[in-house]
Amino acid sequence: MDYDIKDLSLAEKGKLKIEWAEKHMPVLKYIKEKFEKEKPLKGVRISACLHVTSETANLMEALKLGGADVVLTASNPLSTQDDVAASLVKHYQIPVFAIKGEDNKKYYEHIHKALDHKPIITMDDGADLVSTAHSDRKEILTGIIGGTEETTTGVIRLRSMALRGVLYYPIISVNDAKTKYLFDNRYGTGQSTIDGILRATNILLAGLNFVVCGYGWCGKGVAMRAKGAGAQVIITEVNPVNALEAVMDGFRVMSMNQASEIGDIFVTVTGNKNVIRKEHFERMKDGAIIANSGHFNVEIDIPGLEELSISRRKIREFVEEYTLKNKKRIYLLAEGRLINLSAAEGHPAVVMDMSFSNQALSVVYLARNAEKLKKEVYPVPKEIDEEIARLKLKSMGIEIDSLTPEQKKYLEEWAEGT
Ligand code: ADE
Repeated sequence: MDYDIKDLSLAEKGKLKIEWAEKHMPVLKYIKEKFEKEKPLKGVRISACLHVTSETANLMEALKLGGADVVLTASNPLSTQDDVAASLVKHYQIPVFAIKGEDNKKYYEHIHKALDHKPIITMDDGADLVSTAHSDRKEILTGIIGGTEETTTGVIRLRSMALRGVLYYPIISVNDAKTKYLFDNRYGTGQSTIDGILRATNILLAGLNFVVCGYGWCGKGVAMRAKGAGAQVIITEVNPVNALEAVMDGFRVMSMNQASEIGDIFVTVTGNKNVIRKEHFERMKDGAIIANSGHFNVEIDIPGLEELSISRRKIREFVEEYTLKNKKRIYLLAEGRLINLSAAEGHPAVVMDMSFSNQALSVVYLARNAEKLKKEVYPVPKEIDEEIARLKLKSMGIEIDSLTPEQKKYLEEWAEGT
């Protein structure tokens, strides 16, 4: 079996982590049991480009139990858990191409390895696998029937490909399932971003001016958790509706220029580029901390920060000190890469349970229905989304009510009023 990981001897530690995650992924466990019996993915070749974590390992196991022939490559150079990668190879016989800290060249070599597998379904987190297949590996496109995409940034890229007519096969946007973004983006990013910042810095959040750039679902989660820790939260936005929402949720909203002058810590979660740039670094207080929790490391203009700096040194793992020409020091966390997956372990298994159950069931849906779909980005079918919510509630021992026949009828009619 071909693979490229850091060290196979880390496998035992990885296995324990995978088993720990499984205990918190009851919906995926149920799907695993069903897949093992029914083999809905028999013979389906899948190339997955996801963060290599203990939660992802459980998804890979589910696909394999369902009969799929799966390989895994990383969706970020700094998010791989090397022990998990080792266990996937050793205990689950799943080829993995991922090493934490790999450079960009190696990162793309690994993506090519995953494409060498000649997938009929791709599974992506950020769309690097799909975009590489569409640019450098066009010869494999004809064999692909469909793909799934995990994250907001990837969906934006894929929608742009579909709009320009260059997308070669249908994609299911797992990100847009309610049982994904309402939980993973909000509570997952919210908690794991704070976790990453704390593990990297060990700072006290209480009383700090904590600037969240972007008030989408991820920004909402980060702001909520920073507030809970006692920080004074400030939101910056470009979307007037989101900005208004932030105001009414009780946060201060201001421009990035204003926020730059008072922020103690800045977190970008916008999915866009150069959100914090030279004019902002120059205004910042001595000791300001900057981190990114958006998918790519372009939200902070790091080349701009380098140009403004006279020196740079590593202070702790995941903390780089930049001294600017104006003598102020700025601390960049995790090279501007996803702080939650670089310095911490990503979202907890409890939320990844729902995200990855959407992935598993969407792949089955594609295997059965891809030929009926156009080369567009599709939502996860509502039935899958709702089934996952039902299963999750059941796993929590929570019962809910159902409509009475009279209530159903009332909802279908329009004549009844005051
Ligand atoms: N994205 C965010 N958190 C994650 C995790 N724990 N595993 C895989 N992908 C993730």
